[in-house]
Amino acid sequence: MRYSLHLTNNCNLRCVYCYENKAAGGQHKSFVMDEIEIDQRMTDILSRGDCDELELIGGEIFLYPDKVRYVFSKYGDCLGFILTTNGTIRNEAINKILGKYKPTIGVSLDDPRTVERQRVGIDFEQVLANAKYWRSITRVVICAVITPQNIRRIKETFDFYVLEHGFKTIHFGCAEEWMNAYYWQVYLREVERLIMSTPPDILRQATVSPWKYYSVNRKEYVYENGVEKVERLDPTKMELSAYRESRYAGYCLYCQRIGVTPVPLIPDGVEVVSK
Ligand SMILES: C[S@@+](CC[C@H](N)C(=O)[O-])C[C@H]1O[C@@H](n2cnc3c(N)ncnc32)[C@H](O)[C@@H]1O
Ligand code: SF4
Repeated sequence: MRYSLHLTNNCNLRCVYCYENKAAGGQHKSFVMDEIEIDQRMTDILSRGDCDELELIGGEIFLYPDKVRYVFSKYGDCLGFILTTNGTIRNEAINKILGKYKPTIGVSLDDPRTVERQRVGIDFEQVLANAKYWRSITRVVICAVITPQNIRRIKETFDFYVLEHGFKTIHFGCAEEWMNAYYWQVYLREVERLIMSTPPDILRQATVSPWKYYSVNRKEYVYENGVEKVERLDPTKMELSAYRESRYAGYCLYCQRIGVTPVPLIPDGVEVVSK
């Protein structure tokens, strides 16, 4: 089971949709975990006996490569690692850590036409170059956020990162709080446009999440104190929401296009829970 450890909420960007910026009601209360706190949280996580994958997240964790190295070197024997970064900071220390521990890295990059307006402070060309450099070291996933500003460019975003720049995996998240019934319809239409205009062979070769594979889980806080948090993704539970139903509809279109049978919206043994 995947757990997520929030090492910090400090960041060098100010993305317009970022929930981290809003977490403390606009009042940015800064925190960075020290090694004692990391060990306390890790002891708690490991004592549960069900963690096989740890995600390191922030804020921007590459502001603190020593903390990343500390977690990897101390807990790397028993866990797989994933980390999510805004991709703005690349240096020798970071490259060495990635080369040694080879975590999967999510590099956050949205629609190239609007990304600089959404991810405020980014040097887009530089982040793209960093993501390309890192993929020579380890597995890189492009993590794009869909908002009303870029929702009509889902296909173009896929084409740019996968077809033009050769990334094999792209994940489209969604700023759910900015969506409504109208935008969920646009979402489905645009997902359909991507799926129907992309040859099935390309869809099979690339991983376009969340439509290629359907997975369920529920995010739960294991620890939360207002700024710091540890989350756990429980695959035995799910919430039904407009977002889940739209994602599922996209997944069914994808299955139809590549000729496989979709799994049910509520898989056997999964409990539906409310928020
Ligand atoms: C909070 S960031 C932390 C890691 C790092 N700073 C980054 O941007 O990749 C984690 C991921 O959440 C995404 N994200 C931020 N705000 C979001 C929102 N309101 N809805 C959906 N995803 C969001 C970011 O684009 C990023 O891919
Ligand atoms: S880079 Fe990540 S943490 Fe920083 S503002 Fe953007 S989404 Fe939020």
